Amino acid sequence: MARIPKELVDHIIQTADIVEVVGDFVQLKRKGQNLWAPCPFHNEKSPSFSVNPAKSLYKCFGCGKAGGVVQFVMDVEGTSYVEALKYLARKYAIEIQEEEKTPQQQLEQNERDSQFIVSDFAKNHYHRLLLNSEEGMSIGYGYLKERGLNLSTIQTFELGYSLDAWDDLMKAAEAAGYDKKYLEKTGLTVIRTDDQGKDTGRRYDRFRGRVMFPIHNISGRVVGFGARTLKRDDKMAKYLNSPESEIYHKSDVLYGLFQARQAIRTQEVCYLVEGYLDVLSLYQGGIKNVVASSGTSLTEGQIRLIKRYSDNVTVLYDGDAAGIKASLRGTDLLLEGGLNVRVVLFPDGDDPDSYIRKVGDQRFTEYIETKSQDFISFKTTLVAREASGDPVKKAEAIRDVLHSIAKVPDAIKRQVFLQQTSATFGIDEQVLITEYNKLVKTASQKAPDGRPQPGGENRGNYGQGAGSANTGYPPSSTPRPAPAARPMTDEEEAEMLMYGGAEAAESLGNSFAAAPAKAAEQEPMPDMLQVCEREVLRLLVLYAGREIDNEMSVAGYLMGQLGEYPLTFPLYAEMWEICRQELLAGRFPDARQLAQNEREDIRQLITDLATERYEISPNWRTKEIYVFNEVDLPQLACDNAVLRLNKVHVQRELDQCLEKLRHPLEDAEMFEILGDIKRLKELDNELAGLLGTVVGRSA
Ligand code: CTP
Ligand code: MN
Repeated sequence: MARIPKELVDHIIQTADIVEVVGDFVQLKRKGQNLWAPCPFHNEKSPSFSVNPAKSLYKCFGCGKAGGVVQFVMDVEGTSYVEALKYLARKYAIEIQEEEKTPQQQLEQNERDSQFIVSDFAKNHYHRLLLNSEEGMSIGYGYLKERGLNLSTIQTFELGYSLDAWDDLMKAAEAAGYDKKYLEKTGLTVIRTDDQGKDTGRRYDRFRGRVMFPIHNISGRVVGFGARTLKRDDKMAKYLNSPESEIYHKSDVLYGLFQARQAIRTQEVCYLVEGYLDVLSLYQGGIKNVVASSGTSLTEGQIRLIKRYSDNVTVLYDGDAAGIKASLRGTDLLLEGGLNVRVVLFPDGDDPDSYIRKVGDQRFTEYIETKSQDFISFKTTLVAREASGDPVKKAEAIRDVLHSIAKVPDAIKRQVFLQQTSATFGIDEQVLITEYNKLVKTASQKAPDGRPQPGGENRGNYGQGAGSANTGYPPSSTPRPAPAARPMTDEEEAEMLMYGGAEAAESLGNSFAAAPAKAAEQEPMPDMLQVCEREVLRLLVLYAGREIDNEMSVAGYLMGQLGEYPLTFPLYAEMWEICRQELLAGRFPDARQLAQNEREDIRQLITDLATERYEISPNWRTKEIYVFNEVDLPQLACDNAVLRLNKVHVQRELDQCLEKLRHPLEDAEMFEILGDIKRLKELDNELAGLLGTVVGRSA
């Protein structure tokens, strides 16, 4: 076995910076002395994998994997000690002078090493043929040039050409001393079998007369090939691909990721395309943060790979019907993976490759920037258009979209999507939310093995919280997470701000929004904003003319405190406006008269407002809705309602700030938001204090 001199080993280990090495594979975030990331060795969402730069060690507290920088490469690559050292040497441009050794000696390493080495040999062989053989240059290189690819792109992606012969690779490998066993294991040669499927002992090259696209893993090693035919022959598959092997698991590889990974990190978005040529054309056009799913539908493994580098994915698919279908298929999985998904559609007949060649790099980039749409809105518009005029289809389309929304792990995002969907379909949000709640409930009931289902307990029904009351109110119209059981401690908050990313969303999601599964049987709790708006409206409608103190009426007081247009729910806002017009006309609104309104929804609302006061269940107390003796103390009732409404708004603003913190931010923006949060929290406390005195007075 080849030996690397001890001094050289020490030199490599000393040069290699564990943060840099590990950072090529996961996104590390500093917290205290260590850096943290979701573990690359096991599947997890919140980071338990840590790197200690001072000690040059890594350790996962989840799966227990630990070691130094060489061990890390061995673990992540599944290679031997020597191969790991060579990887590090390549990374740090350290030359290794090995003692001369025969290829056979090289192969006396572990199985995976051997397969890597043979694949690397084949890649070099094909690459040489493309640029140095007559057939390769005229046919292969000629074709790539015609497709607009330049030499630099060809070299970056190590493209090649396989001669149109049955045994060219086999012969070359044999001449160079490689064991043909590994050619078979990596699928570079095909074993010829007879009719019974028995090995005839004959072999032939799998790839012949094709342009070769080596497929790299994230550390840049070749694990397989895609190969495009240049013949216009319908009977021949356009692409042939390496079969699965010990080193090539299709579901865990994305074409182009090795070349794209740094750009994905710096651009903070990963473009996802379908084909090899799409990747190459975009990369050559300066859009380097691009990877391909290679024609298959996305897998969870591929999504995890993307997530190591960015939380944002923009799917760029063909503008034809098939392309759209494809983009819909893979994306629910992306959503489930917690990625922010956007979609760009190209004009009919174009794919990213043809389009960038048609319009040029500049306009292509502009196109992506202006035409990218949030996935849920995209899907919503699409299915809404398809279903227009057909109510049955429409209902199906809505459920389809709700299914996608249920996949989004983040509660606040789900909430925003529900609002958008209601607008696009022109459907009452309340109806939509009822439907959504039904859907997630069925989904969780259907869970076959008690595992939480997407849309199941983690995607809690909106507005549900333990101990919520049946209030007789309609279901919430703007869903709001159930209130936190306790406020975050400063430490928790600091931790959240520190991570700022998915984990923050996680922990927020857990403490604020995830409804406990056992609440599933209970009635949805109405949204607090709606409750509070309704309450001020109720006081206005029922007590408009009541005097609060000398010469101030309830109506005047409420309008003075809240302004002219304080309500957001359309029906409530309309009602408020009707009352305001009455006041402007010099009259106090009168419930009995309003109950005669020509509009059915308004009549209904008035009746409800006039009666529901007495339906409030005792549980309201636990939800801190205090029942006043409002007939005697209208001022307190008004103060209470006004403060409460203000507090809800403050809390919403807080939520929005927290939401913003989950996205990558400039420092300046971040400090501004942190400042806002501080200010809002103070305001919130102040309002809570005032509410306390109001409640105190009533007792
Ligand atoms: N593909 C495949 N096998 C096929 C066809 C396609 O594996 N028979 C995969 C390839 O990874 C290909 C991707 O699906 O890159 C997209 O297919 P397509 O759009 O047809 O190929 P392009 O890469 O765009 O190639 P070209 O533009 O040369 O047709
Ligand atoms: Mn194409």
